[in-house]
Amino acid sequence: QFKFNVVVVIVVLQLYYALKSRIVGGHTAAPNSIRYLVSLKSTSGQHFCGGSLVHRYWVLTAAHCNIGAEQMMIVAGDYKVNIFEGTEQYAKPRILVIHPLYNRSTNNADIMLIKLRAPMVLNKYVSLAPLPRQGTGVAEGHVCRVSGWGYNSLEGGQVPVTLRTVTVPIVSTARCNSSDSFNGNITANMICAGYSTGGKDACKGDSGGPLVCDRRIYGVVSWGNGCGDAKFPGVYTAVSRFRRWIDQTIYGSYLLNTCPFLHALSAL
Ligand SMILES: *[C@@H]1O[C@H](CO)[C@@H](O)[C@H](O)[C@H]1NC(C)=O
Ligand SMILES: *[C@@H]1O[C@H](CO)[C@@H](O)[C@H](O)[C@H]1NC(C)=O
Ligand SMILES: *[C@@H]1O[C@H](CO)[C@@H](O)[C@H](O)[C@H]1NC(C)=O
Repeated sequence: QFKFNVVVVIVVLQLYYALKSRIVGGHTAAPNSIRYLVSLKSTSGQHFCGGSLVHRYWVLTAAHCNIGAEQMMIVAGDYKVNIFEGTEQYAKPRILVIHPLYNRSTNNADIMLIKLRAPMVLNKYVSLAPLPRQGTGVAEGHVCRVSGWGYNSLEGGQVPVTLRTVTVPIVSTARCNSSDSFNGNITANMICAGYSTGGKDACKGDSGGPLVCDRRIYGVVSWGNGCGDAKFPGVYTAVSRFRRWIDQTIYGSYLLNTCPFLHALSAL
């Protein structure tokens, strides 16, 4: 009897944390509808962050998702993260490129590129994410979409963890940075999104995943204060501030350094 009660309590707690810690206020995404989304897993198979495939060899994610290249596995074509569905592709990281301005105490420049040891194959389940141009913004109120698998350390791995998604409007930096909200902690490298009534948000474990506006990845899930809190929108790394860095990191390493003609072209 005692043992049974303990099991019931554990199952209830697991469900509670599972529901609490995933994308807040959203719904299940259609299978493989967000084909550039990847799951970052520990070598033991535990999902801990999201990411976006931006090149067959490269994943864009948050710098705070860095647990060390040796501890990581990247999975593309996933839908239920703890179940093998036959659509997954696995790759180990070759190098992690953390943005040089990343500051873990302020969360500034919370962006990282992961180069894979082997390229992902683009197919019905795996595609590349379109990025915004350098310096482009998204207007306040513009509705964007954030997606992810969430995460919780209590989860045993029995309950299928299905991809979830929710739409959230962009909040102006002025409001997000105001004394009513993040009180001066928002930098120009961050954008905020959420409803003034709260209830819809990304949450722990959605970190590193994409905020998509007009089909482009304008944000990377970065930080916040709780999840779905009316006073505190979700804070995302502003990808358009880093487009040049992304291109230089991905293409600079192969082309620009070895080919002076392309280097001259890229400067135009
Ligand atoms: C991070 O930011 C804080 C606050 O601005 C600053 O004091 C600290 O030196 C920075 N750390 C690094 C590694 O840049
Ligand atoms: C802003 O940052 C300061 C210093 O890191 C911290 O003490 C404060 O709680 C933060 N405020 C909010 C609303 O995030
Ligand atoms: C947010 O407020 C702080 C403190 O007033 C300020 O230093 C910072 O530049 C503001 N951020 C933006 C993006 O304007």
